[in-house]
Amino acid sequence: MSHAEAGTIGETITEDALETDPYPIYARLREEEPVSWVPAVELWLVTRWADVEHVDKSPAVFTGETDPSTLNRTFGRNLLGSEGDYHERIRSIIYPAFRADKIGHYPDEVIAPIAIELVEAFASKGEADLMADFASPLSVRVLKRVLGLEVEDDRLVRWFGELATGASNFSHDPEKQAIADAASREVDEHVGPLLDALEGKPDDTVLSNMLHSEIDGDRLTRQEIASNLKVMIVGGLQATSDLIALTLLTLLQHPDQLAEVMADHSLIDPAIEEAVRWHAPVGTSTRQTTREAELSGVRLPAGALVAAVLASANRDKRNYTDPDRFDIHRREGGHLSFATGPHLCIGARLGRYEARTGLRVLFERLTNLRLDPDREVVVRGWEFRSPESVPVLFEEV
Ligand code: HEM
Repeated sequence: MSHAEAGTIGETITEDALETDPYPIYARLREEEPVSWVPAVELWLVTRWADVEHVDKSPAVFTGETDPSTLNRTFGRNLLGSEGDYHERIRSIIYPAFRADKIGHYPDEVIAPIAIELVEAFASKGEADLMADFASPLSVRVLKRVLGLEVEDDRLVRWFGELATGASNFSHDPEKQAIADAASREVDEHVGPLLDALEGKPDDTVLSNMLHSEIDGDRLTRQEIASNLKVMIVGGLQATSDLIALTLLTLLQHPDQLAEVMADHSLIDPAIEEAVRWHAPVGTSTRQTTREAELSGVRLPAGALVAAVLASANRDKRNYTDPDRFDIHRREGGHLSFATGPHLCIGARLGRYEARTGLRVLFERLTNLRLDPDREVVVRGWEFRSPESVPVLFEEV
């Protein structure tokens, strides 16, 4: 009897189960069906570390330039939706804008002042929601400043939501696309005058660096700057607030380890790395096969849409001892939460700066930090995993 006739695990998986808690599903798939067609989400789920890494590192077979491409359709051609020479060209011009020599001053000069202002607003109240009162506004305000956008916080958040609607519009719903296209035009209209001003007066923003960077005499066009800026808005806003909120939540759920980190701030970095392994904010790399391919003995047809599940690779027992245990002292190498290969997250350094600085500021100002036992915590999502809130109680230092 073939696998399909016997009934597959993939066929039994619902979208709601994935959204609620994907980890038990991934655990079963890794052992029994590591390459699995899941009709509920119309994707092949690839769940073992070695296969996920292989997918991310083999763009000639597993391409980010999907056809049709919701990313390119919504943003214009951009680095996440392209491969090969074009991708390399765009990335080589943009990447330097995120290097330490360009953003190394951000933790002290940009991130810490914003984080301090946010903490001061609730420090004397004894309670807060670290998602709505801290992680989310920190991410919005830092991204705005880093990119060089001059918009109100709410407007950037709205752009994010509307552009993301287009990026995930796999059903090609014209109404959804119209919402995304309107936001896209709004971003273009906002960016035009900013670029005019930056022509003669460069500054330390990503927008300025994209405008002025030249690699072998080559520069980005204004259209390319706008398209890639939109990828950064969609990729950089929620992922960063989720990274900060998930790290805090996970530590709060492991009070002994939280106490260690609060007593010794040199443990902040390892705690962030372990939290981001344990709970990847961005769950998947989505790719499409350019030709027939084989993974863990399973044949994939040409044109197959594949989700390489980063969140699952991070819990593969082939790579970690007792992978479901959260342990800030784990020293077992990296994780795949920023992906790998040619699309390795360009904003990883910035995201880490924000989490590191945010936690340090919080821990210097608050003490006896604990989850509010009277308020429920709900974490949902498999492609993007977020806590709805992180309700805490504390005292001032
Ligand atoms: C801190 C939390 C973040 C996480 C967990 C995260 C995660 C990721 C992942 C998994 C990818 C690869 C996607 C794929 O393989 O399909 C990616 C790519 C990317 N990220 Fe991030 N990201 C974060 C923050 C940021 C920030 C702050 C920015 C920019 C301001 C950013 C910009 C990008 C861009 C431009 C790409 C595409 C790179 C390419 O295609 O070459 N990310 N990110």
